[in-house]
Amino acid sequence: MPLRVAILTDEPGWHGRELQRAFLALGVQSAFASLPDCRIDLESPQARVQVPGFGEREPDAIFVRSIEAGSFEQVTLRLSVLHALRELGVPVYNDARAIERSVDKSMTTFLLRRHGIPTLPTWVTERESVARGILMRETAQRHELVVKPLFGSQGKGLQRLASGASVPGQDEVRGVWYLQRFLNCGEGKWHDWRVLVAGGRPVSAMLRRGRSWVTNVARGARVEAVDAQGDLAGLAIEAAEAVGADYAGVDLMRDADGRWLVLEVNSIPAWRGLQAVTPFRIADVLARDLVTRHLGQALGRLGPARTR
Ligand SMILES: Nc1ncnc2c1ncn2[C@@H]1O[C@H](COP(=O)(O)OP(=O)(O)O)[C@@H](O)[C@H]1O
Ligand SMILES: [Mg+2]
Repeated sequence: MPLRVAILTDEPGWHGRELQRAFLALGVQSAFASLPDCRIDLESPQARVQVPGFGEREPDAIFVRSIEAGSFEQVTLRLSVLHALRELGVPVYNDARAIERSVDKSMTTFLLRRHGIPTLPTWVTERESVARGILMRETAQRHELVVKPLFGSQGKGLQRLASGASVPGQDEVRGVWYLQRFLNCGEGKWHDWRVLVAGGRPVSAMLRRGRSWVTNVARGARVEAVDAQGDLAGLAIEAAEAVGADYAGVDLMRDADGRWLVLEVNSIPAWRGLQAVTPFRIADVLARDLVTRHLGQALGRLGPARTR
């Protein structure tokens, strides 16, 4: 029986096709499934999880490509499906715990701090008065602040708060003010770095030059290849480890003294921008990492495959 991996996503798209081809090259079958269609089966005596397209048997592994937004209940259930699969012994890449720990930016910052990984001064609060106080104190010291959605991604919804600004209201931040000191690269010189890490190793890295201070590829940043080595790679590896991610996209900046700082860790990263400056196929590295580290005992069943 060949190994079978479920790629969880509502929209397979380019990433899905890349992964499917990469698994196939390893002799591993894969199929797409939508997380809302997966079912925790409470009727069967052993309690199982049904993944559509995989019949009675659970997949040999799960690759999580997206968790669709929904109500608090829906998202909780979707994460429970991933937790349940792990309980059943199915490797989940990335595991629900790593996803939970990185989707909440304040938890990521907490873990970075706990692991002694340099990051920017950051605050999180549910009290508007506290957020106002932080803004006043910081701007009095000539700093600007960035306010980010706690669950944000792709550079959406970030705001810069300078002296004289007021903090966005309760509804705009959905009740949580996540504030970070703004690190200024200088007008027109906006940039940061993205490193993709898998299995405790750097896969590839890029410099992103932004059209604005928000330098996500989704916001039109131009990308340049950089060597994934030295402190840049070392810190990215530590950051991925801190959240417990099998693989992660880690964002970094450099302060005025040249010191590397970790901005955030993405446990469901896109890699199309990075692929454009990477001479090998990133999906090949991810698929092989999942298979070798999590399905190692089953490896004997695989056909010959190229390693990197
Ligand atoms: N504190 C900051 N100082 C300067 N630029 C920042 C800061 N935080 C974020 N940015 C810019 O905004 C981008 C998006 O922020 P990030 O924290 O990575 O959130 P997202 O999850 O939306 O990618 C970063 O890649 C960086 O260019
Ligand atoms: Mg980011």
